[in-house]
Amino acid sequence: MNDLDALVAAAQADFTAASTPADLENAKAQYLGKAGRLTELLKGMAALTPDEKKSRGAAINEAKQRVEAALNARRQALAEAELQVQLKAEALDVTLPGRHRGTGGMHPITRAMERIEAIFSSMGFDVADGPEIESDWYNFTALNNPLNHPARSMQDTFYVDTKGTDGISLNLRTHTSPMQVRYALQHARRYKADMDAGHPMPDIRVIAPGRTYRVDSDATHSPMFHQVEGLWVGEGISFKDLKAVYISFLQQFFETEDMQIRFRPSYFPFTEPSAEIDMMFGSGPLKGRWLEVSGSGQVHPQVVRNMGLDPERYIGFAFGSGIDRLAMLRYGVSDLRAFFDGDLRFLSQFK
Ligand code: PHE
Repeated sequence: MNDLDALVAAAQADFTAASTPADLENAKAQYLGKAGRLTELLKGMAALTPDEKKSRGAAINEAKQRVEAALNARRQALAEAELQVQLKAEALDVTLPGRHRGTGGMHPITRAMERIEAIFSSMGFDVADGPEIESDWYNFTALNNPLNHPARSMQDTFYVDTKGTDGISLNLRTHTSPMQVRYALQHARRYKADMDAGHPMPDIRVIAPGRTYRVDSDATHSPMFHQVEGLWVGEGISFKDLKAVYISFLQQFFETEDMQIRFRPSYFPFTEPSAEIDMMFGSGPLKGRWLEVSGSGQVHPQVVRNMGLDPERYIGFAFGSGIDRLAMLRYGVSDLRAFFDGDLRFLSQFK
């Protein structure tokens, strides 16, 4: 082996031993750099004769090409290896089961609400939605509950300070009853042209479920709770219609006819006569206990007037039921607060 073959072999061995691009560049400098061994050999040719220079120069150049070829081959190999490492690190195992978010479930109150809507819709009721921040007028005054009337204190509420704005006093609605006059006025507007043309007004028949607020908090009262208002006003809608509708609703909601229902005289400023609706299951854990589920009554003539209607002609009933209460009874929940704590151990049972 001549000196050049030995040099090429040494370069190949050094390049192979270089395991990173930086090592390889260092190894390269030893052969091809300014002070590298090949460069030194070329410098050493100065003393040779022209003929010797020719053959020696060609041999050195050939060796240099082999060193460069070895260098490029190793560079490619290192780059390839690096790519493989990277590909491996970023590899996707397409056979792994997918990560999913888990399916949510409907909140029990939402479920109860949808159930209520389905039942009343099947009895021909519209479903309406109203504001939770309500004017004093719709929440109290229009419902025959004027400023300073003692019945207002039955429903202490959260007032919104609107002093100095438009003079309208606002509160978080204490019940869904403001929807009675609100919806009746919308209804009258919707059918105004027909009525002006002498057609009779279609009955107002609506439920309005939603959030309500009172200053109240214990195991069966939350400052935010849900009610559903029901209203049916027409010509000759009476207490017997209220009884038929409400009894049918309870039987459908609880999926049983094994219950007693009573209408217990009560007082609300916006109904006359008024009744509290109580029910008692004929079996199950609550068997034999009267449970209050709703306020109700015949819409007061003054409220009918506030709806823009003639109380001599139009009459009807209203009720306002606690949805949370109905949901507690249906799902056997004893503490109302469980609905609003957001504890997944409780909520996921309703999926
Ligand atoms: N709004 C009443 C309450 O919250 C319930 C009710 C509604 C009573 C409609 C009569 C008629 O207590």
